[in-house]
Amino acid sequence: MFPPTLAALEAAAEAVASREAWDYIAHGAGDEVTMRTNVEAWQRYRLRPRVLRDMANVSTATTVQVAPVAAPILVAPTAMHRFVDAEGEPATARAAARFGTVYAVSMAATTSLEDVAAAAPRGTRWAQMYMLRDRGRTRALAERARDSGCTAIVASVDGAAVPRRSRLKGGALVPPDWFRFPNLAAPGDETSDIMALVSDYDTAVTFEDLPRFTEWSGLPVVVKGVMRGDDALQCVEAGAAAIAVSNHGGRTLDGVAATAEVLPEVVEAVDGKAEVYVDGGIRSGVDVLRAVCLGARAVMVGRPVLWGLAVDGEDGVVSTLAHLADELLRAMALCGRDAVDRLGPDVLLTPR
Ligand SMILES: Cc1cc2nc3c(=O)[nH]c(=O)nc-3n(C[C@H](O)[C@H](O)[C@H](O)COP(=O)(O)O)c2cc1C
Repeated sequence: MFPPTLAALEAAAEAVASREAWDYIAHGAGDEVTMRTNVEAWQRYRLRPRVLRDMANVSTATTVQVAPVAAPILVAPTAMHRFVDAEGEPATARAAARFGTVYAVSMAATTSLEDVAAAAPRGTRWAQMYMLRDRGRTRALAERARDSGCTAIVASVDGAAVPRRSRLKGGALVPPDWFRFPNLAAPGDETSDIMALVSDYDTAVTFEDLPRFTEWSGLPVVVKGVMRGDDALQCVEAGAAAIAVSNHGGRTLDGVAATAEVLPEVVEAVDGKAEVYVDGGIRSGVDVLRAVCLGARAVMVGRPVLWGLAVDGEDGVVSTLAHLADELLRAMALCGRDAVDRLGPDVLLTPR
């Protein structure tokens, strides 16, 4: 039976995953304070439910970048799904399509964008990428994203330095030597050395580089890793179609604010000019409701999807997403809001 809560799912995933895989998924940067605060910060927003509002028909459905989704719950880009499931990313892609949401495929996936597309041709897929120093290689990947049917590029902008990963043995990530990175690695490069590959990220990237992704692919760009209103606005002015508020699940720099704390400032700065998504520490449907009330168009979920994948493969991911959506539906009804676009800040008590 699928675990009744995400906390139980996490424990079940830890029990089945290898030590290396678990440390990789679960770790955060430094002392992991930001990682923990991400989770806690959502809980500080308490709810102010409305009653007597005719909740006979409640729907969690909405859209992101005009694509319909069953709930404002998207699959965040996470690397190396083969760490926890023999099939890896194709299983996640099918699950996201079955549930009815977007799957953002990581640049560091262990499956090519083309094979992910073949697994779930009708699913909505976005391609996450970092700008590489080799612009030709980045461009080729952006073109492959378009050609394989992705409908947006998720440009991650939090790669200015390689994070300290204290929980990992030797502080570095060493995946199994049979892993391949057919999106991140150059064509023909069979290396499994992810640390060498991430050293190809361009640490000199600026706002002026953002339009390249759209020029190369013709696709809208979601800028992921923004933590301030002023940066968000500058991204929008540089042509971003959406902003993903993210501190990478607390995996890049410890001490950074929780995403729940900065979401309101980003929403205010963007002022409706672009969609705003948020990730980090979303662990219940009530957290999804809180994020949407604060102005997020949708949330992205990282670790819980990997827990579902570890525990029961494709079905486990569907169950994880369905669990969050079901909790969201109940929370909406009990807050007197029958549609996602009726959720707003009045449903929340501002934390003191
Ligand atoms: C195992 C793992 C791998 C990740 N890989 C990537 C990646 O390749 N690219 C990226 O932009 N973000 C990556 N992230 C960050 C997620 O997209 C997301 O920001 C984060 O997981 C959200 O926090 P949550 O795990 O608390 O939901 C990764 C996160 C995890 C947990």
